[in-house]
Amino acid sequence: MPLATEHIRRMRGGAQSHLMRCEDENFYIVKFQNNPQGTRILVNELLGTRLAARMGVSVAGAAVVEVRSQMVELTEDLVVQLGRGRVPCVAGLEFGSQYPGHPATTAVYDFLPDEQLRRVENLPDFCGIFVFDKWTCNTNGRQAIFLRARDGERYRAVMIDHGFCFNASEWNFPDAPLRGIYARSAVYEEAHGWEAFEPWIERVEKRMDENVLDEVAREIPPEWYNFDQDALYRLLEQLLRRRKLVRELVLSAKNSSRMPFPHWT
Ligand SMILES: Nc1ncnc2c1ncn2[C@@H]1O[C@H](COP(=O)(O)OP(=O)(O)O)[C@@H](O)[C@H]1O
Ligand SMILES: [Mg+2]
Repeated sequence: MPLATEHIRRMRGGAQSHLMRCEDENFYIVKFQNNPQGTRILVNELLGTRLAARMGVSVAGAAVVEVRSQMVELTEDLVVQLGRGRVPCVAGLEFGSQYPGHPATTAVYDFLPDEQLRRVENLPDFCGIFVFDKWTCNTNGRQAIFLRARDGERYRAVMIDHGFCFNASEWNFPDAPLRGIYARSAVYEEAHGWEAFEPWIERVEKRMDENVLDEVAREIPPEWYNFDQDALYRLLEQLLRRRKLVRELVLSAKNSSRMPFPHWT
Protein backbone atom coordinates (compact mmCIF):
# COMPACT_ATOMS: atom_id res chain seq x y z
CA MET A 1 0.00 0.00 0.00
CA PRO A 2 1.76 3.19 -1.18
CA LEU A 3 2.45 5.86 1.43
CA ALA A 4 2.04 9.50 0.38
CA THR A 5 5.29 11.42 0.78
CA GLU A 6 4.67 14.74 -0.97
CA HIS A 7 1.71 16.94 -1.82
CA ILE A 8 2.02 18.41 -5.32
CA ARG A 9 -1.22 20.27 -6.05
CA ARG A 10 -4.97 20.37 -5.79
CA MET A 11 -6.93 19.04 -8.79
CA ARG A 12 -10.19 20.44 -10.14
CA GLY A 13 -13.45 18.54 -9.78
CA GLY A 14 -16.22 17.87 -7.28
CA ALA A 15 -14.26 15.35 -5.25
CA GLN A 16 -11.49 17.92 -4.55
CA SER A 17 -8.71 15.46 -5.19
CA HIS A 18 -4.98 16.08 -4.84
CA LEU A 19 -1.96 15.07 -6.86
CA MET A 20 0.52 13.39 -4.51
CA ARG A 21 3.82 11.59 -4.83
CA CYS A 22 4.08 8.26 -3.04
CA GLU A 23 6.85 6.16 -1.61
CA ASP A 24 6.58 3.72 -4.53
CA GLU A 25 7.81 6.62 -6.74
CA ASN A 26 4.47 6.83 -8.51
CA PHE A 27 2.16 9.82 -8.51
CA TYR A 28 -1.50 9.46 -7.61
CA ILE A 29 -4.61 11.62 -7.80
CA VAL A 30 -5.88 11.06 -4.29
CA LYS A 31 -9.54 11.24 -3.21
CA PHE A 32 -10.01 11.52 0.54
CA GLN A 33 -12.53 9.77 2.77
CA ASN A 34 -14.18 13.09 3.69
CA ASN A 35 -14.45 14.37 0.11
CA PRO A 36 -17.66 16.37 -0.58
CA GLN A 37 -19.19 13.56 -2.70
CA GLY A 38 -19.23 11.03 0.13
CA THR A 39 -16.99 8.26 1.41
CA ARG A 40 -18.67 5.60 -0.73
CA ILE A 41 -17.27 7.11 -3.90
CA LEU A 42 -13.91 5.66 -2.85
CA VAL A 43 -15.51 2.19 -2.94
CA ASN A 44 -16.95 3.01 -6.36
CA GLU A 45 -13.57 4.14 -7.64
CA LEU A 46 -11.68 1.05 -6.53
CA LEU A 47 -14.41 -1.42 -7.49
CA GLY A 48 -15.07 0.37 -10.78
CA THR A 49 -11.43 0.63 -11.81
CA ARG A 50 -10.70 -3.01 -10.99
CA LEU A 51 -13.76 -4.35 -12.80
CA ALA A 52 -13.21 -2.22 -15.91
CA ALA A 53 -9.59 -3.41 -15.97
CA ARG A 54 -10.79 -7.03 -15.79
CA MET A 55 -12.97 -6.33 -18.80
CA GLY A 56 -9.82 -5.33 -20.63
CA VAL A 57 -10.57 -1.60 -20.84
CA SER A 58 -7.68 0.86 -20.51
CA VAL A 59 -8.04 2.44 -17.06
CA ALA A 60 -5.62 4.25 -14.78
CA GLY A 61 -3.85 2.14 -12.19
CA ALA A 62 -5.58 2.24 -8.81
CA ALA A 63 -4.30 1.82 -5.27
CA VAL A 64 -5.27 2.29 -1.67
CA VAL A 65 -2.97 5.12 -0.61
CA GLU A 66 -2.03 5.90 2.97
CA VAL A 67 -1.87 9.54 4.03
CA ARG A 68 -0.52 10.10 7.55
CA SER A 69 -1.90 12.76 9.88
CA GLN A 70 1.45 14.53 9.98
CA MET A 71 1.26 15.10 6.23
CA VAL A 72 -2.20 16.66 6.61
CA GLU A 73 -1.07 18.84 9.51
CA LEU A 74 1.95 20.12 7.59
CA THR A 75 0.14 20.79 4.31
CA GLU A 76 -2.05 23.87 4.25
CA ASP A 77 -3.75 22.77 1.02
CA LEU A 78 -4.96 19.42 2.37
CA VAL A 79 -8.40 20.72 3.29
CA VAL A 80 -11.92 20.08 2.04
CA GLN A 81 -13.79 23.26 1.15
CA LEU A 82 -17.45 23.19 2.14
CA GLY A 83 -19.38 26.38 1.42
CA ARG A 84 -17.44 29.04 3.25
CA GLY A 85 -15.84 26.67 5.71
CA ARG A 86 -12.99 24.24 5.38
CA VAL A 87 -12.03 21.11 7.27
CA PRO A 88 -8.77 19.17 7.13
CA CYS A 89 -8.65 16.08 4.90
CA VAL A 90 -9.05 12.96 7.02
CA ALA A 91 -5.80 11.02 7.35
CA GLY A 92 -5.83 7.27 6.75
CA LEU A 93 -6.56 5.13 3.71
CA GLU A 94 -7.61 7.01 0.60
CA PHE A 95 -8.19 6.18 -3.07
CA GLY A 96 -5.35 6.82 -5.50
CA SER A 97 -5.64 6.92 -9.29
CA GLN A 98 -2.19 6.56 -10.73
CA TYR A 99 -0.83 9.32 -12.93
CA PRO A 100 0.47 7.64 -16.10
CA GLY A 101 4.13 8.63 -15.81
CA HIS A 102 5.80 11.66 -14.25
CA PRO A 103 3.67 14.82 -14.16
CA ALA A 104 6.66 16.97 -15.19
CA THR A 105 7.36 14.98 -18.35
CA THR A 106 4.11 13.24 -19.32
CA ALA A 107 1.39 15.60 -20.49
CA VAL A 108 -2.15 14.48 -19.81
CA TYR A 109 -5.18 16.08 -21.51
CA ASP A 110 -8.73 16.11 -20.21
CA PHE A 111 -10.19 16.84 -23.64
CA LEU A 112 -9.14 16.46 -27.28
CA PRO A 113 -10.67 18.14 -30.31
CA ASP A 114 -12.50 15.74 -32.67
CA GLU A 115 -9.65 15.62 -35.13
CA GLN A 116 -7.24 14.33 -32.48
CA LEU A 117 -9.93 12.09 -30.98
CA ARG A 118 -10.05 10.22 -34.27
CA ARG A 119 -6.35 9.51 -33.82
CA VAL A 120 -6.83 7.75 -30.48
CA GLU A 121 -5.30 4.29 -30.88
CA ASN A 122 -7.75 2.53 -28.55
CA LEU A 123 -11.11 3.95 -29.61
CA PRO A 124 -12.88 0.57 -29.12
CA ASP A 125 -12.29 1.05 -25.39
CA PHE A 126 -15.00 3.73 -25.47
CA CYS A 127 -17.49 1.03 -26.48
CA GLY A 128 -16.08 -1.18 -23.73
CA ILE A 129 -16.42 1.45 -21.06
CA PHE A 130 -19.91 2.29 -22.31
CA VAL A 131 -20.92 -1.31 -21.66
CA PHE A 132 -19.31 -1.05 -18.25
CA ASP A 133 -21.08 2.27 -17.50
CA LYS A 134 -24.44 0.70 -18.42
CA TRP A 135 -23.76 -2.29 -16.20
CA THR A 136 -22.74 -0.13 -13.21
CA CYS A 137 -25.19 2.71 -13.97
CA ASN A 138 -22.59 5.45 -13.97
CA THR A 139 -24.73 8.55 -13.43
CA ASN A 140 -21.96 10.92 -14.51
CA GLY A 141 -20.87 11.56 -18.08
CA ARG A 142 -17.97 9.34 -19.14
CA GLN A 143 -14.55 10.81 -18.37
CA ALA A 144 -11.20 9.92 -19.90
CA ILE A 145 -7.73 11.40 -20.05
CA PHE A 146 -5.47 11.29 -23.08
CA LEU A 147 -1.74 11.02 -23.48
CA ARG A 148 0.59 10.67 -26.41
CA ALA A 149 0.85 7.11 -27.68
CA ARG A 150 4.26 5.49 -28.00
CA ASP A 151 4.46 6.25 -31.70
CA GLY A 152 4.32 9.99 -30.85
CA GLU A 153 1.64 10.48 -33.52
CA ARG A 154 -1.46 9.10 -31.98
CA TYR A 155 -3.05 9.33 -28.53
CA ARG A 156 -4.04 6.81 -25.93
CA ALA A 157 -7.23 7.13 -23.88
CA VAL A 158 -7.25 6.12 -20.22
CA MET A 159 -10.61 5.92 -18.47
CA ILE A 160 -10.87 7.68 -15.11
CA ASP A 161 -13.41 8.81 -12.50
CA HIS A 162 -15.68 5.97 -11.46
CA GLY A 163 -17.01 7.81 -8.42
CA PHE A 164 -20.56 7.99 -9.78
CA CYS A 165 -20.92 4.34 -10.72
CA PHE A 166 -23.83 2.79 -8.76
CA ASN A 167 -25.28 6.33 -8.61
CA ALA A 168 -22.56 7.74 -6.33
CA SER A 169 -23.42 7.25 -2.65
CA GLU A 170 -26.92 5.98 -3.37
CA TRP A 171 -25.89 2.52 -4.50
CA ASN A 172 -28.92 2.15 -6.70
CA PHE A 173 -29.38 2.01 -10.47
CA PRO A 174 -31.62 4.68 -12.00
CA ASP A 175 -31.03 3.59 -15.62
CA ALA A 176 -31.55 6.15 -18.38
CA PRO A 177 -30.66 5.77 -22.08
CA LEU A 178 -27.93 8.39 -22.40
CA ARG A 179 -26.29 7.92 -19.01
CA GLY A 180 -22.60 7.14 -19.23
CA ILE A 181 -22.23 8.28 -22.83
CA TYR A 182 -19.07 10.19 -23.78
CA ALA A 183 -19.79 13.82 -24.72
CA ARG A 184 -18.07 13.60 -28.14
CA SER A 185 -19.69 11.12 -30.51
CA ALA A 186 -16.48 11.04 -32.60
CA VAL A 187 -15.23 8.30 -30.28
CA TYR A 188 -18.10 6.02 -31.43
CA GLU A 189 -17.68 6.59 -35.17
CA GLU A 190 -16.12 3.16 -35.67
CA ALA A 191 -19.05 1.44 -33.99
CA HIS A 192 -21.11 0.15 -36.90
CA GLY A 193 -23.28 -2.37 -35.11
CA TRP A 194 -23.58 -4.96 -32.38
CA GLU A 195 -20.14 -6.35 -33.17
CA ALA A 196 -18.60 -3.21 -31.55
CA PHE A 197 -20.29 -3.98 -28.23
CA GLU A 198 -20.79 -7.72 -28.25
CA PRO A 199 -17.28 -8.76 -27.11
CA TRP A 200 -17.51 -6.40 -24.13
CA ILE A 201 -21.00 -7.57 -23.19
CA GLU A 202 -19.75 -11.13 -23.31
CA ARG A 203 -16.94 -10.25 -20.92
CA VAL A 204 -19.41 -8.82 -18.42
CA GLU A 205 -21.63 -11.89 -18.73
CA LYS A 206 -18.84 -14.47 -18.60
CA ARG A 207 -15.93 -12.99 -16.67
CA MET A 208 -17.59 -10.87 -14.00
CA ASP A 209 -18.69 -13.66 -11.72
CA GLU A 210 -19.05 -13.96 -7.96
CA ASN A 211 -15.41 -14.87 -7.44
CA VAL A 212 -14.14 -11.82 -9.27
CA LEU A 213 -16.45 -9.50 -7.33
CA ASP A 214 -15.48 -11.11 -4.02
CA GLU A 215 -11.82 -10.78 -4.78
CA VAL A 216 -12.11 -7.10 -5.58
CA ALA A 217 -14.34 -6.46 -2.55
CA ARG A 218 -11.75 -7.90 -0.18
CA GLU A 219 -9.36 -5.15 -1.22
CA ILE A 220 -11.69 -2.35 -0.09
CA PRO A 221 -10.92 -0.78 3.32
CA PRO A 222 -14.11 -1.36 5.40
CA GLU A 223 -14.10 2.24 6.67
CA TRP A 224 -14.89 3.31 3.10
CA TYR A 225 -18.32 1.67 3.44
CA ASN A 226 -18.77 2.48 7.10
CA PHE A 227 -18.21 -1.21 7.96
CA ASP A 228 -21.61 -2.00 6.44
CA GLN A 229 -20.85 -5.43 4.92
CA ASP A 230 -24.53 -6.02 4.18
CA ALA A 231 -24.77 -2.90 2.04
CA LEU A 232 -21.64 -3.86 0.14
CA TYR A 233 -22.88 -7.38 -0.51
CA ARG A 234 -26.27 -6.09 -1.64
CA LEU A 235 -24.42 -3.92 -4.13
CA LEU A 236 -22.41 -6.86 -5.44
CA GLU A 237 -25.54 -9.02 -5.74
CA GLN A 238 -27.23 -6.31 -7.77
CA LEU A 239 -24.23 -6.19 -10.06
CA LEU A 240 -24.40 -9.92 -10.63
CA ARG A 241 -28.09 -9.68 -11.42
CA ARG A 242 -27.63 -6.74 -13.76
CA ARG A 243 -25.29 -8.61 -16.07
CA LYS A 244 -28.21 -9.83 -18.12
CA LEU A 245 -29.65 -6.31 -18.50
CA VAL A 246 -26.62 -4.85 -20.22
CA ARG A 247 -27.59 -5.78 -23.78
CA GLU A 248 -31.00 -4.14 -23.43
CA LEU A 249 -29.48 -1.01 -21.88
CA VAL A 250 -27.05 -0.61 -24.78
CA LEU A 251 -29.93 -1.02 -27.21
CA SER A 252 -32.02 1.66 -25.52
CA ALA A 253 -29.09 4.09 -25.83
CA LYS A 254 -28.72 3.23 -29.50
CA ASN A 255 -32.42 3.84 -30.13
CA SER A 256 -32.59 7.14 -28.26
CA SER A 257 -33.39 10.18 -30.37
CA ARG A 258 -29.93 11.67 -29.89
CA MET A 259 -28.37 8.73 -31.74
CA PRO A 260 -25.11 8.56 -29.79
CA PHE A 261 -23.57 6.05 -32.22
CA PRO A 262 -23.63 7.98 -35.49
CA HIS A 263 -22.70 5.02 -37.73
CA TRP A 264 -24.81 2.32 -36.12
CA THR A 265 -28.00 2.42 -38.16
N1 LIG B 1 -5.04 8.83 -13.14
C1 LIG B 1 -5.01 10.12 -13.48
N2 LIG B 1 -3.95 10.63 -14.15
C2 LIG B 1 -3.88 11.94 -14.48
N3 LIG B 1 -4.83 12.83 -14.17
C3 LIG B 1 -5.92 12.40 -13.49
C4 LIG B 1 -6.06 11.02 -13.11
N4 LIG B 1 -7.22 10.89 -12.44
C5 LIG B 1 -7.77 12.12 -12.40
N5 LIG B 1 -7.01 13.03 -13.03
C6 LIG B 1 -7.25 14.48 -13.17
O1 LIG B 1 -7.86 14.94 -11.99
C7 LIG B 1 -9.14 15.51 -12.25
C8 LIG B 1 -10.10 15.11 -11.14
O2 LIG B 1 -10.25 13.70 -11.12
P1 LIG B 1 -11.68 13.02 -11.22
O3 LIG B 1 -11.50 11.57 -10.98
O4 LIG B 1 -12.37 13.43 -12.47
O5 LIG B 1 -12.40 13.64 -9.94
P2 LIG B 1 -13.84 14.30 -9.70
O6 LIG B 1 -14.65 13.22 -9.11
O7 LIG B 1 -13.55 15.40 -8.77
O8 LIG B 1 -14.36 14.78 -11.04
C9 LIG B 1 -9.51 14.99 -13.63
O9 LIG B 1 -10.31 15.91 -14.33
C10 LIG B 1 -8.18 14.80 -14.31
O10 LIG B 1 -7.75 16.00 -14.90
MG1 LIG C 1 -14.34 13.97 -12.83
